[in-house]
Amino acid sequence: MKFLSVDTSCDETSASVCKDDRVLSNIISSQVDLHNEWGGVVPSIAKRIHQERIDPTISLALKRARLKIEDIDAFAITIGPGLAIALEVGIKKIKELSQIHNKPIIVVNHMEGHIYSNFAKNSEGSSYNKFKKPKFPVLCLLVSGNHTELVLMSNHGNYKLLGETLDDAAGEAFDKIARPLILGYPGGSIIERFAESGNPEAFDLPRPMIHSKDYNFSFSGLKTASVLLIEKLKQKYKKDFSKVVPDFCSSFQQSITDVLLAKTVKAVKEYKVKQLFMGGGVISNNQIRKSFRKEMRRLSVNVFISDKKFCTDNAAMIGICAYYKSKRNEYVKNIKNVDRMPNLKINENILF
Ligand code: KG4
Ligand code: ZN
Repeated sequence: MKFLSVDTSCDETSASVCKDDRVLSNIISSQVDLHNEWGGVVPSIAKRIHQERIDPTISLALKRARLKIEDIDAFAITIGPGLAIALEVGIKKIKELSQIHNKPIIVVNHMEGHIYSNFAKNSEGSSYNKFKKPKFPVLCLLVSGNHTELVLMSNHGNYKLLGETLDDAAGEAFDKIARPLILGYPGGSIIERFAESGNPEAFDLPRPMIHSKDYNFSFSGLKTASVLLIEKLKQKYKKDFSKVVPDFCSSFQQSITDVLLAKTVKAVKEYKVKQLFMGGGVISNNQIRKSFRKEMRRLSVNVFISDKKFCTDNAAMIGICAYYKSKRNEYVKNIKNVDRMPNLKINENILF
């Protein structure tokens, strides 16, 4: 089964060709440089750039896969969650292609895509993260720029949202903290680089909701405390402020890691899961990857962490998810009805 998939949910224009769960090509055209000067994603700019780049991105995905559009069996498209006017661009294009080539569509939830990034294989069929078979129920930790979710997956396509962020997502906190530090957008990977030479115990930042009884998260308090601390440090160190940036970044990263880990361990124990899947942009973070591997080994839980190239937004994860949906025959029935769903939840399975 050959899928051409597209994701335009945020600030990456991505198209991929997958043969079942094998990734033949995965093109990601990032807009981060264009949003950088605004310190975050500007929806109208994202829409315009998606419109400019969608055709060349699809053409390149086909070319890299050494296939023509006529060789494709079905199309896959992200319908949400994401920026409405950005999602719209990919949806419109896939509807057009489906009608021209008379091939079916499968619609995919972006967060479900982040889960299935763990199932990615290369063109020879070897798994990127040594993943073989799920042992349900599986726990999924999804951490991106807009979402922080703990999801219990009891089968393919069957999800229960255990908890999510009540305010800022973890990635958003990284991005917002990068602004007063004048590090640019997106903040996560830059903060990680500075954190490498810092001391994680240098500053005692809050670990919001770490002991709450539920599985929800909250990162806005951490963000506010961090901004206040940055101001104090700027006043104290003046020209030498840059010398404390690594310690600050390391302490901030440690606080996020501790909260994510504590909540995940609690869920692992309560739901007695044997496998954990991790995905989303923030999961590219080495400190988070290392801490989870260590703790899950101690708990005898098999942890599967998306290969870094499938952590941040990409269309390959959408194609792989669509392949599993095709096995359940979850094709769109009426293409005209396919529409963006900016607030789509992980447990809503919309087929149109
Ligand atoms: O999944 P993603 O590409 O987009 C959304 O669906 O939102 O995630 C983007 C987020 C951004 O907030 C970015 O700062 C964060 O992932 N991120 C990281 C790292 N790389 C990207 N956060 C921490 N450490 C990283 N290495
Ligand atoms: Zn994402």
